[in-house]
Amino acid sequence: MDNKTYLIIGGTGGIGQAMVQQLVTATANEQDDNNRIQVFATYHRSVPDFEADNLYWLQMDVSDESSIKQAADDIKQQSTHLDWVINCVGLLHTESAQPEKALRQVETDFFLQNMQINALAGLLIAKHIRPLLAKAERSADKPAIFATISARVGSISDNQLGGWYSYRMSKAALNMGMKNLSIEWARSLKDVCIVVMQPGTVNTQLSAPFQGNVADGQLFSPAYSAECLLEVLSGMSADKSGSFIDWAGESIPW
Ligand SMILES: NC(=O)c1ccc[n+]([C@@H]2O[C@H](COP(=O)([O-])OP(=O)(O)OC[C@H]3O[C@@H](n4cnc5c(N)ncnc54)[C@H](OP(=O)(O)O)[C@@H]3O)[C@@H](O)[C@H]2O)c1
Repeated sequence: MDNKTYLIIGGTGGIGQAMVQQLVTATANEQDDNNRIQVFATYHRSVPDFEADNLYWLQMDVSDESSIKQAADDIKQQSTHLDWVINCVGLLHTESAQPEKALRQVETDFFLQNMQINALAGLLIAKHIRPLLAKAERSADKPAIFATISARVGSISDNQLGGWYSYRMSKAALNMGMKNLSIEWARSLKDVCIVVMQPGTVNTQLSAPFQGNVADGQLFSPAYSAECLLEVLSGMSADKSGSFIDWAGESIPW
């Protein structure tokens, strides 16, 4: 791990928090004047319960564009650039709504909430973070990274089971948005690698109600998933921008 400035969005979620902890811990012994690593991380409702010298917390509600812009402005006060941005925010269920098993359960508010948090937010984050990525030192071999945790269930061709209309559709929309963005930025913001990722089935509050059918050994800890995702991202080059890949680095069909 070398001199980098990271932004982890959703840094208090299961996977996001594991990412923040790994970045901060891995870099804790590497801090010197020539090797300064910074980690910015955002929280939503839960106030973060850990701190480190090189960790800066910001509040961000991804359903509110002004909140995304405010966080980007706050980062600009403290850093000239960002090298890696990883969006770990996601919504599958709420206190009052579960993913749909059948069409009759589809409701407008829950559908739009999924689209807003899982799909639209990624575009708005890219819109406001772009100037910080533009100032990153980067090359085709060592690109800046703009990654979003998606889900395999957002793959249209992989869909064998149906159900989960709002979540599946919002992740498919996210994937299209990031593919589109990879085409635009290949022209206007070179050497930024845009990736959507499947983290595995991970033991977090998001998956907790749905872990019953997970095969033995297939339920990852957040720490393991975060470690795999960071490893995959560290091997990305600019020509891989627009990829949909899993925690092991395998491509997923759209
Ligand atoms: N866990 C899995 O098995 C699995 C599988 C496939 C894909 N994924 C994807 O992986 C990503 C991370 O999921 P996770 O398992 O770590 O879930 P998680 O523990 O529930 O974390 C989700 C995070 O999103 C944040 N969030 C929700 N609404 C937000 C908003 N409006 N503004 C800002 N932050 C908001 C939550 O913060 P608050 O709680 O404070 O609202 C929480 O920190 C998600 O995109 C999920 O779809 C997970």
